[in-house]
Amino acid sequence: MFEALQGMETWQAVLGLIGSGTAIGVAYEKLFQRIKNPEIGALQRSLDDSKKELTDIRGTMAVCNADRAQAQVKVKNFDTIREALFGEEDELWRIHPAAPPAGYAERLANSKPKIITIANLKGGVGKTTLTANLAAYFEQRWGKRVLAIDLDYQGSLSETLLIAAGIDYGGSLVDDFISGKKDGAELLQVAKSLHPRMPNTQLITSNYDLARTENRLMLNWLMKETNGDVRFNLGEVLLHPAVQDRFDVILIDGPPRLSTGAINALACSHHLIIPTIPDAMSVPAVTRFLHSIGNFLPALNPALKLAGIAVNLASSATLKEKEIESLSRLTDEFAMAGMNGHIYEQHIPRLAALANVAGRDVLYLKERLFREGTMEKLGAEVAKSIGFGVVK
Ligand SMILES: Nc1ncnc2c1ncn2[C@@H]1O[C@H](COP(=O)(O)OP(=O)(O)O)[C@@H](O)[C@H]1O
Ligand SMILES: [Mg+2]
Repeated sequence: MFEALQGMETWQAVLGLIGSGTAIGVAYEKLFQRIKNPEIGALQRSLDDSKKELTDIRGTMAVCNADRAQAQVKVKNFDTIREALFGEEDELWRIHPAAPPAGYAERLANSKPKIITIANLKGGVGKTTLTANLAAYFEQRWGKRVLAIDLDYQGSLSETLLIAAGIDYGGSLVDDFISGKKDGAELLQVAKSLHPRMPNTQLITSNYDLARTENRLMLNWLMKETNGDVRFNLGEVLLHPAVQDRFDVILIDGPPRLSTGAINALACSHHLIIPTIPDAMSVPAVTRFLHSIGNFLPALNPALKLAGIAVNLASSATLKEKEIESLSRLTDEFAMAGMNGHIYEQHIPRLAALANVAGRDVLYLKERLFREGTMEKLGAEVAKSIGFGVVK
């Protein structure tokens, strides 16, 4: 009996299981139906799309944040530049620390040609006149191979030397060298030969286009949108082996501003010559110029030497008392600032002959009196100040 009852319970349990199994099956079937429901499938896809869009949005946001950070840096940069543009010109050239190319100072110190910049922030003091006559002097008196570089966008040196040699102009050449587009080997290809008037002198010309190039280069450098330090471009060109082997003296005619070209000239020169008129207006400009470049030169070209101050446009062959007095102020300033300033003893008086050939010829080539008198003496002093030996 007991066994029979036990057998019945087992069957009931089996039947119960079958019943609940059917209930689970029904539930599964319902769930299956729901999953198969097209609306749920569509929802699932839309959920997937949304997830992807969210990922995309996150990516875009990351890019936007990076752009915003970059823009903030630019705005900060721009504010600094605006401040500097309103301030002194030399402040601009101190915004970024100097980043000279590898081995620059050493290569400059070992340069075979002597590199000399003739500059002053005052116009009309005789920078171009002196550059042209020194080129002729070094070529003819010393037999040197000269490269003359015009870095004044007014192009006066280019005009003077080209007209003197009877050569067509043909545009500004110097732009490509201060912008780093061309190297020293290319300089030899494009430089204007002044043969036969000045057979051993080559010229790199400039004109008004240069001003635009200079502004573009300066702004790009200020905004850090250039490769390398724009201030050393000309130096790299002049230190190229092709230029090093080809010339003995490089004379750079500077503009009356601290333009990109002027900074390039100061960054690659061994010597600086400052022409001045010996009057109360011009002499203080020399001091201002020296103070101004003193603010950035130690970082850019600490080896640059002041070869001398060339006194030009003096009232007569002998300096008048007033002129001597003006110049003595300069000597006092040198002493106070601890500068090694040297005024060449030979000055250039105001000469009608120099004014008459202005922009058209080089007086040294034309007039024996000037060649054998004033320029012979001044030239010898300049040669000595830049370390040439004794004239042949
Ligand atoms: N010693 C001089 N005697 C007469 N005229 C001169 C003398 N030196 C320069 N000049 C003239 O003065 C003007 C300015 O000279 P320039 O050499 O062009 O100066 P800068 O290059 O400094 O602006 C030119 O017309 C030039 O011929
Ligand atoms: Mg000039």
